[in-house]
Amino acid sequence: MTDLRQTNLACFDAPIGGRLTPEMVDAYRSDGVLILEDFLTHETCDELRARALELVEAFDPADVRSIFSTTDQEQLNDRYFIESGDKIRFFLENDAFDEAGQLRSSKENCLNKMGHAMHDIDPVFDRFSHTPALAEITRLLGNENPGIIQSMYIFKPPRIGGEVVCHQDSTYIYTEPQSCIGFWFALEDATEENGCMYFIPGQHREPLKSRNYRLSDDRLTTEVLDSTPWPEHLKVAAPARAGTLVVFDGRAPHMSGPNGSETSRHAYTLHVVDQNCRYPADNWLQRGADLPLRGFAAQD
Ligand code: FE2
Repeated sequence: MTDLRQTNLACFDAPIGGRLTPEMVDAYRSDGVLILEDFLTHETCDELRARALELVEAFDPADVRSIFSTTDQEQLNDRYFIESGDKIRFFLENDAFDEAGQLRSSKENCLNKMGHAMHDIDPVFDRFSHTPALAEITRLLGNENPGIIQSMYIFKPPRIGGEVVCHQDSTYIYTEPQSCIGFWFALEDATEENGCMYFIPGQHREPLKSRNYRLSDDRLTTEVLDSTPWPEHLKVAAPARAGTLVVFDGRAPHMSGPNGSETSRHAYTLHVVDQNCRYPADNWLQRGADLPLRGFAAQD
């Protein structure tokens, strides 16, 4: 079994109120990733998992055959996906259905993810996402005017949880200048067996390798900006106990393996941009005027 404290990445006890120390900021700047243990209590992890399962209850797989896969360009063109920036939608794993067209397991054990606006639409995820501690971390990392652009609940289900190939989140959440920061909350233990993340430390200082955007007909395309391969032999595992927060630069290359184990690996993620930067109208992720971008302040 993976030792959940054994990583070559800098790892700290979560600071009170999100007040990162200079050493934490230095680790983020040098590696592109910062691991903060015990950011969440187990009660909070349980509350978010329970709420996610309530939302899944309302999901009817018969309505949806959309499958999210970073290796399948066709799926990127799926309208169900492209219109989900201001909704709560559900994306199944590639292997969710058996030969007879039936789900292989319970709904939550066939889902890849749920996204992309729980943080604005669902009261439980809203309350969790808009907090002073996250605002403080974001501020100390240099974001002057944060907007939470996206939330995802990642299921990484047992046996069929798929691989996520090496990528940079700024490829998809692009601003000028680049400003994306990822927040990844482990709601269950993430191990090398059940598909924890891996990072290539320091590579966030290299330019963005590709940019994904909408064409005029709303199909999505990815423009390669630099075709040199990632030095994946330098990847470092980032196993994380439930309650850990992993903060990473939008240009930090990361990936996760398939889940071949018998345990799920649930995580919640937020992506934040600086609203002082330009957010292009051809980014895939858009929201309607009725759901304006918000920072970390709680709703009245
Ligand atoms: Fe990612």
